[in-house]
Amino acid sequence: MSNPKVAILMGSQSDLQQMQPASDVLAEFGVAHEVVVTSAHRSPEMTATFAKEASGRGIQVFIVGAGRAAHLAGAVAANTNLPVLGVPLESGALRGFDALLSTVQMPAGVPVGTLAIGAAGAANAALLAVQILALSDNALAGKLATRKKAKADAVPGVVKSVDGGA
Ligand code: RP5
Repeated sequence: MSNPKVAILMGSQSDLQQMQPASDVLAEFGVAHEVVVTSAHRSPEMTATFAKEASGRGIQVFIVGAGRAAHLAGAVAANTNLPVLGVPLESGALRGFDALLSTVQMPAGVPVGTLAIGAAGAANAALLAVQILALSDNALAGKLATRKKAKADAVPGVVKSVDGGA
């Protein structure tokens, strides 16, 4: 397999199911990627080292999911100049609202582009990653256009017309 261009990180193996759509979308576009579990608080050194070394290995975009007091995306962003797309995950009593606020409220200077909570956010993060890569990859740009047209063509429009009688 070619060198990964996108790194999908998450804070726990319990996050895998919600983050799977990110990997599925990247696979759909034929984008080489890797899926990594590392925690901002349980394995801070592994997280920092991974973030620092990723660019040198050819990674161009990070997708980072975490739940609860989610700080993994911010910890990654602190250690790289690559774009970081954050996915707040549903976990625990607040069902992702905590992670949404934690991920989206980065102070100015260390950006994390934050997506929706859970699987939809994971899928959209991957689409954004593809859009970023497509800026310098015409084949990917073509695949994006084809996918967008297919989605538009699948929208049915008028599904029912009722005659009001006389
Ligand atoms: C976060 O805490 C993880 O990203 C996960 O969403 C949540 C719970 O992790 P586990 O206790 O299931 O490992 O750090």
